[in-house]
Amino acid sequence: MSKTTYRLHYNENPLGPSPVVMDRIRDHLAGLSLYPHRDDEALRDCLAAFYGRGVTPAHLFSTYSGSEALDLIARVYLEPGDEVIVCGPTFHVYARTAEWQGAKIVDVPLDNQDFSVRVDAVMRAVTPRTRLVYVGNPNNPTGSIVTRDDMDLLHMGLPDQVTLISDEVYHHFVTRPDYPDSLASVAAGRNLIVLHSFSKVYGLAGLRVGVAISRPDIIDRLARYRRTFHLGTLEMEAAIAAVGDPDHVARSVAMAERGKKRCYAAFDRLRITYWPSEGNFILFRTPMFADDLAARMADRGILVGSGSRFGLTHAIRVSIGLPEANQAFISALEHILADES
Ligand SMILES: Cc1ncc(COP(=O)(O)O)c(C=O)c1O
Repeated sequence: MSKTTYRLHYNENPLGPSPVVMDRIRDHLAGLSLYPHRDDEALRDCLAAFYGRGVTPAHLFSTYSGSEALDLIARVYLEPGDEVIVCGPTFHVYARTAEWQGAKIVDVPLDNQDFSVRVDAVMRAVTPRTRLVYVGNPNNPTGSIVTRDDMDLLHMGLPDQVTLISDEVYHHFVTRPDYPDSLASVAAGRNLIVLHSFSKVYGLAGLRVGVAISRPDIIDRLARYRRTFHLGTLEMEAAIAAVGDPDHVARSVAMAERGKKRCYAAFDRLRITYWPSEGNFILFRTPMFADDLAARMADRGILVGSGSRFGLTHAIRVSIGLPEANQAFISALEHILADES
């Protein structure tokens, strides 16, 4: 019998896509010989109705994943020699896509205790060449958020030539009341691009759909890079169906919340430091090199994300899985730590 592998390394939705989405995809399989829609109007209309509150189709641009949106933003905004500010440890694609354009990466590390954004330090790092400031909200891998107050300070303090990128692909999982209302900020015309993705709570990482939400003039700049056939039929249909099934989102969020509580309790019992997370994953401190612990977990069929790729040699990011996977992770951690002592 082959050994079960638990994928707790990519922050995927272990429930998979909604059954409604699966039905919609099946309905469209027979039409795969036909070209898809030329543009993303149907999805933008659907999302504008879904978001409401002043967000119109003109505020939206769909992309082939959140990662592609980041690439597009870098291509539109950056020239060689421009600067961008990232707050590490954070999602590596911000720096990578900016580097592809020849931009200089200025890292203003998050607070080393609670991983909050050091707003004053960000302001001090701004120069006349700064074009973009990226924040992960919630941030990967720390699970921390940029609070409403800090977001307001950033908006007020950044000069006009600097656009704030708020990457909110995990926003569904946030429970903190001081989380900013970025869609209201977009509708109010702030110099801000918000990113959403269908890879996380909607369980569609394999299809690749993301959305940039911003002021219509900014969306127009991004839309100059529109492909002739914007998204594939299955991507478009799946995304439209996904927002139509809020129950699946609620189930997924509730499962992640229960899983996080269970892991927190285990970490407390094992005296392991962790950072309470607003995402569907948790970062915890490891008593040995993270790469070694991740390798020993992998030997037991449990894939977790070593912090070393974020510069964290003694921390691991574990995604929340199904209850059985969470239990397997906790048991493996207990065994490995017991072997060590
Ligand atoms: C913070 C963050 N932003 C964006 C993405 C990109 O998601 P995708 O390209 O699958 O839409 C990820 C994926 O892990 C992420 O963690």
